[in-house]
Amino acid sequence: MSAKITINFTVNGEAETREVDPSRMLLKFIREDLQLTGTKEGCEVGECGACMVLLDGKPVNSCLVPVAELDGKELITIEGLAKDGKLDPVQQAFIDHAATQCGYCTPGMIISARALLNRNPFPTDDDINEALSGNLCRCGAYKEIRQAVKDCAGK
Ligand code: FES
Ligand code: FES
Repeated sequence: MSAKITINFTVNGEAETREVDPSRMLLKFIREDLQLTGTKEGCEVGECGACMVLLDGKPVNSCLVPVAELDGKELITIEGLAKDGKLDPVQQAFIDHAATQCGYCTPGMIISARALLNRNPFPTDDDINEALSGNLCRCGAYKEIRQAVKDCAGK
């Protein structure tokens, strides 16, 4: 355990200041300190994408990022995508396409898809495959997931 430091950041649009052990991983901080449990714990070694969040708009595996790196940044978790009581179009498309089975990979998949659509609103199949290549689905719902993302073009 390292000496605590103070970090300032925003999470899902809200400004926060916290004292943290800088060596702690962002995934643990999100789930245990911020109590945002939509971000899932999977492999914890950067292989599955279950822990994906947006840090300054970029998708990152939060299991690999020390919480100290959150200082001065904007964090968006799956809980922050819905706006004014309305689901993000990607969330809605996953429901419409039944693109979840157990749902464990779903938050990470949706975060990766949202990041893709933000930087490239009309992705090709190859773009979608590449953007989701770091997200594993143990239920094998890849076909429905990719179709859901494809249907979000321009949204
Ligand atoms: S839990 Fe982070 S990549 Fe698997
Ligand atoms: S829906 Fe079960 S892991 Fe993807």
